[in-house]
Amino acid sequence: MSSSPNKLNVHALIWQDQQLAVLDQRQLPEQVHYDFFTTAAEVAEAIKTMRVRGAPAIGIAAAYAVALSVQQHYSPQNTEWQKQVNADITLLAASRPTAVNLFWALSVMQETLLLIEHSPVDEMINKALEIHQQDIAANKKMGELGADILADAQGLLTHCNAGALATGGYGTALGVIRSAQQRQVREIFAGETRPWLQGARLTVWELAEDNIPVTLIADSAAAMLMKSGKIDWIIVGADRIAANGDVANKIGTYSLAVLARHHGVKMMVVAPVSTIDFAMENGCQIEIEQRAASEFLPDCYVQAGSLVDAWNPVFDVTPAELISVIVTERGVVFNPFEKGVRELKK
Ligand code: MRU
Repeated sequence: MSSSPNKLNVHALIWQDQQLAVLDQRQLPEQVHYDFFTTAAEVAEAIKTMRVRGAPAIGIAAAYAVALSVQQHYSPQNTEWQKQVNADITLLAASRPTAVNLFWALSVMQETLLLIEHSPVDEMINKALEIHQQDIAANKKMGELGADILADAQGLLTHCNAGALATGGYGTALGVIRSAQQRQVREIFAGETRPWLQGARLTVWELAEDNIPVTLIADSAAAMLMKSGKIDWIIVGADRIAANGDVANKIGTYSLAVLARHHGVKMMVVAPVSTIDFAMENGCQIEIEQRAASEFLPDCYVQAGSLVDAWNPVFDVTPAELISVIVTERGVVFNPFEKGVRELKK
């Protein structure tokens, strides 16, 4: 079912009337359109098809989806309900492979399921709401910690969309940019982020909605922009951070990190602790999602027997040695290459 929820501010996800309202990010910036979902299968499809995207937002959507599943299947008479919920969790886990927040949120919901005391539906909904609220609080904390580090920086370049649209609200990389802008005006640049154009369609829209001026660049203009001396920091989010500090993020992040090192620009990664995969020793083990060639291959080549194919990995891994600082809500790690991020584990 589709319509607009009765809120003025734009949010990627809204829990409303026992349903999950999902902003269809494929239609931005032209349309602000929400779909209302009542089953986990619908939410899994929304994640797969990028209606909702961005690591923390994917995790939060999955948490709400598990609550929807309990709402759909639980009744005191249904002895199979937990089995049915676990089948939905398996379906959700197969929606996208790289963002670890998805698996983190599913395991938190699965643990909650095992500890239910009286009211399964309410307890699961409350847990999903708590995950959502905690993400917003983490973003605000990271915003302040990141802004402290930026001090007198004048020019910032971000990649993809790591804003309110990609999280519970406020954003990770864009959260730092928001907090930094409140202290002092800087010049913000956003890379368009081929092939899906998260920068051109989402980041510039989100910043403009917040009255923050931004300049869009073609991804291929980044080297020249850095050479001009206008950029002090590159600020990005992450989909998965390995224990040694290697960072998987949107394709093109690694290129920016290499360019940054050459031009003496610093590189900041902003992500909640739920994005750290402490069990993964280094970035080589991170599964990189490959999406359909048709996402950017001209239609005339998308056919059997065509001589033209496309290679479409949608994330890459930036080695820790190219990262100046990782900012989390639990603290910041400068030069993660030296000791990884293990100290952030509770
Ligand atoms: O394919 P997407 O749009 O889900 O990729 C999003 C990113 O790579 C973001 O930078 C990352 O998830 C961090 S969002 C706070």
